Amino acid sequence: MASDRFSAEAAAWDNNPFIHIQSESAWQAIRKQFPGYFGNANDGSFTGVQKPAVLEIGAGTGTLTLRMAPYASQIVAVDAAEGMINALQIKLEKPDAAKNVTAIYALLEDPEDKVLPPAGDGSEGRLKYELITSHLVLHHIADIPAVLKTMYGCLKPGGWVALTDFEDFGPAARKFHPESKMVGVERHGIPREWMAGLLRDAGFVDVDVKVAWSTKKTVEKFPGEFGNHADAANASQGEPMDFPFVLCLGKKP
Ligand SMILES: C[S@@+](CC[C@H](N)C(=O)[O-])C[C@H]1O[C@@H](n2cnc3c(N)ncnc32)[C@H](O)[C@@H]1O
Repeated sequence: MASDRFSAEAAAWDNNPFIHIQSESAWQAIRKQFPGYFGNANDGSFTGVQKPAVLEIGAGTGTLTLRMAPYASQIVAVDAAEGMINALQIKLEKPDAAKNVTAIYALLEDPEDKVLPPAGDGSEGRLKYELITSHLVLHHIADIPAVLKTMYGCLKPGGWVALTDFEDFGPAARKFHPESKMVGVERHGIPREWMAGLLRDAGFVDVDVKVAWSTKKTVEKFPGEFGNHADAANASQGEPMDFPFVLCLGKKP
């Protein structure tokens, strides 16, 4: 199971600089998209900002979560791998950690799941969000329409999804993962038009799926070159390749 793979990798997850670089790129792409939530990224102005309540699905160890936390009213970070959520929880227990992050171990399928925080209005309902993020997760999800339906149900009217992942730009996109890391990979990136269609089918409006940044990754020159290593084990292995990342936007009317 993919969640077993991610739980096993959780302890060493943050040692990979690639994870931090991609989380930072995702944050910058999301932040620029929503100046009303996060201020103007160019001049540092935060006038008139309404800090959003954010739900992050597939938060992992929280690299993107903790980057966003100062700019959010609260963040609920969900992940289906217990090891990942435990790693995030350890960070949250440090004295100087963000106090507005809740880490939840769950495979979220129901917007009214009782694992989610309550709406806080005395009803049985669950909290609804202004923004849902999910970074490097969609390519692991078998049933994307089902997850989009859940996200839709978790949003307030007028709320947005801002989902980031690498693009499926053709057969070479398969090289994003070395052969030893194919467990739990449901697709080799996100095709733009396909994803836009799924967002519209789920009821989202103002849909836009666009390349937001591009990154270089050392990939296998031939399948299996890295053996059981996740990345090149020595300087003569692998070759650099560019990977575009998409930002998938949709608003709940
Ligand atoms: C490649 S990792 C990315 C983690 C983190 N977003 C990051 O960038 O470091 C994918 C994560 O998505 C989680 N995941 C996959 N499908 C999920 C789902 N349906 N619900 C919640 N988490 C999921 C996995 O457990 C894993 O932690």
